[in-house]
Formats: sequence, structure tokens, C-alpha cells
Amino acid sequence: MKPYVYLTRKMPPAIVEKLERECRVSMWEKEEEPVPAEVLAREIEKADGIYCTVSDPIPRELIEKAARLKIISTMAVGYNNIDVDAAAEKNILVAHTPGVLTETTADLTFALLMAAARRLPEGIDTIRNDEWGAWVPFFLTGQDIHHSRLGIIGMGRIGEAVARRGTGFRMDIVYHNRSRKPEAERDIGARYVELDELLETSDFVCVTAPYTKETHHIIDKDALHKMKESAILVNSSRGGTVDEDALYDALKHGSIRGAGLDVFENEPIRSDHPLLSLPNVTALPHIGSASEKTRWKMAHMAADHLLQAFRGEEPDHVVVKPSS
Ligand code: DGY
Repeated sequence: MKPYVYLTRKMPPAIVEKLERECRVSMWEKEEEPVPAEVLAREIEKADGIYCTVSDPIPRELIEKAARLKIISTMAVGYNNIDVDAAAEKNILVAHTPGVLTETTADLTFALLMAAARRLPEGIDTIRNDEWGAWVPFFLTGQDIHHSRLGIIGMGRIGEAVARRGTGFRMDIVYHNRSRKPEAERDIGARYVELDELLETSDFVCVTAPYTKETHHIIDKDALHKMKESAILVNSSRGGTVDEDALYDALKHGSIRGAGLDVFENEPIRSDHPLLSLPNVTALPHIGSASEKTRWKMAHMAADHLLQAFRGEEPDHVVVKPSS
């Protein structure tokens, strides 16, 4: 019998058809609404494969229900929504989609940095609200990007790609990472510094580290306090890397200048989220990898990982490998 795959989100026909050639497939038919936990719990009991997205929590309780599950394939590079230890204990593969979204996510991260630095949302609102008056010498003056210091927390693929963009703006690039990256130092001219030095001296502090126990609230009250008053925080990794209450206070009281955020602790946020009441916050709805080409690559890659696993091959990008 063909393996049974459950897709936690409505995916385009091309992806479903690709899977259907080798699998029995069913899918949560809604695009805008996440699959309810009880539906996923029922499906995971009988599935051989789960195709999920970044916003579907797959905790231990769910994984423990799996009776025949061979692989969880997520259409994302980040996999903090999946309890990978629980999967490993049950010999379930976890696969993700690194690489294909690196440049697209770096583009968005840099766009966010620029938008926050040059106050683009405020400029756009000024025109939309018919508030553009006389030419005022210091109206909407922002921060220079060129020749400033870019501090990158998490020098993985995306961090490096953001750093490369910074070199085009003649930025001085410093980074902090679990391990030194000699190639990035050589090729990009990035300099490794301790976290405190990065926070204290950077004009832009950019978080591109994966979300783990170690990076939970890496930007907390203390870290924000160390940043320059003129500094801008950019986060395109996961919301949990930043303590949002502390960030709100820092932005409200001017202890940092602004923030560009593509991610939040509890997504989706609503318009009454406290951070959105602040003019110096540029907020986006987690669209780091959202270019058409890249999302198609991610969608195909996640499907290919399932097919590889069912053919008895090792999927190309595995986070957790079964021990047997
Ligand atoms: C990822 O792949 O982890 C992104 O956050 C999803 O766009």
C-alpha cells in the first residue's frame, strides 16, 4: 500500500499531485487557518508522513501519538515548532528546507533594516493620511545605513547573506555566533566580537540566529540597555529571540531608536499589539522567505523529502535522523 501523507495546510495542486504519484494524500483544506490540534492528533496517528509549515506546533504529545510515522517534513528552515528530541526518540526523521531561502530572507532582512532606518512606514503614512506639508528641514530624518556598523547575531547562511549586503553599503560588519566563521571573516571582512561589544557598538543589531533554548530572549532588557540610543534592532529569525515587553519599554523610552520586526513571539499578532502603537516599529507578518520563486522551491523541497524517505533514500536536508 502507498504511504499516507497528511499536509497540514492547503498546498497548490502541483505539490499535491507530485505527492499523489507515490502516496495517498489528504490535506487540511484551509490556507488561512491552521489545522486544529485535534485534527492533527487524529491524522498523526495514522500518517506515514506529515508535511507541515512553520506555524504548526508539533509537540511531544502529538509525536507520541504517531503509530507509523516515518518523517515530518517542514516547509521551512527553522524547526523550533517541532519537538525534534521526541521525534528522534521515536526514530522519526525531521527534514527542513535550508539554502533555498537564504538570499530571499536576507533581502527582506535588509529591506526591514532600511525601512526602519529611514522611517519608510512613517513616510508612507504621511502621504496616505494627507499630512505632507511644507518642506521641513528635519522632517522624518532617520539613521544612515552606509558606513555604519552592522552587528549580526547568528552568522549562519542567512546572517552571512545579510552581511554580504552590508558590504555593498560599506558597512563595518561585526558578528557573534556560537563558533567563529573564518570564511566569512575572510570573504566578507566580518569581525567576530563578544555579544556585549556587538550590542554596545552596533548601529544595527540584526538577529538571524535560530531559535533555541540558548537564544530565547537573547535580546532582553539587559541587552537592549547595552545598545546605543541611536541603534535599530532588526529581527527576522523568530519572535522568541526578543523579549517583547522589554523591547516595548526600550522603544517607548528612547533607549534604542527603532525596530524592524518580521517575527513575533505569538504569531499572528493583531493591530492592538503594544509594539504596533509605536511609530518607531516597522512590523511585517513573517514574510522573510516570501518570494514566489523561493516559496515554490521550499514547497517542492519539502515534498521531495517525503518522497525520498518513502523510497528508502535519505532526504537531502535532515535535522533528525533515525538511529536505526
Ligand atoms: C523559515 O523557513 O524558517 C521561515 O521563517 C519561514 O518563512
